[in-house]
Amino acid sequence: MKPSAFIFDAYGTLFDVHSVVQRAGAGIAGELPALSHVWRRKQLECTWLRALMERYEDFRYVTEAALRAAVRELSIEATGQQLDLLMQAYFSPAAFEDVRPALEALNGSPLAILSNGTPEMLESAVRHNGLESYFSATISVDQVKTYKPSPRVYALGPRTLNLPAEEILFVSSNLWDAAGAKAFGFRVCWCNRSGADLEDLGFAPDIVVRGLDEIEETLKLPR
Ligand code: LAC
Repeated sequence: MKPSAFIFDAYGTLFDVHSVVQRAGAGIAGELPALSHVWRRKQLECTWLRALMERYEDFRYVTEAALRAAVRELSIEATGQQLDLLMQAYFSPAAFEDVRPALEALNGSPLAILSNGTPEMLESAVRHNGLESYFSATISVDQVKTYKPSPRVYALGPRTLNLPAEEILFVSSNLWDAAGAKAFGFRVCWCNRSGADLEDLGFAPDIVVRGLDEIEETLKLPR
């Protein structure tokens, strides 16, 4: 059965987090791809730890703290101004090339975003990429003051769209997020752009695609 609605993860799925350092990191002496990867890893670790400890600070705060920690870990000399530029650029990440064609193809159904990002960060990223018209809802974890993969976060999806979880296809490139969404009760699409192995997180995605623009066609295939 075709899903009644689609919910997308934001960072890593719609928006390329590594575009931030690529665009705004010029001038920083150091291994920029490493900075980008360590920044992302620390950002996610920080969300998981804060969720477990029940010590929520919003995603802007966490992202900035993770940037400072990444710079320290890699012994990168960056000025306060250079770090400010990176943080500003986090508000306008590039969308992956498959995003617009995917949203066009699925446009007849309600489409939403459910993300760790603050409402301001998400609105800004959507606006920067001119994607406002596609989404009927942009849902931030800030409403429940915790992070994915808490079921309290995923529960915002069915509540906002007023549909049961099993009628919604949750789409994420982050395997741990796809696992969390499946554990909650969504149908799940893992967008595996890099051809990574499926780790054993106790779940299997309902569908796997190599790009978001394959979702519509994949749903038509007999399963
Ligand atoms: C988000 C994280 C998973 O957008 O990147 O929620």
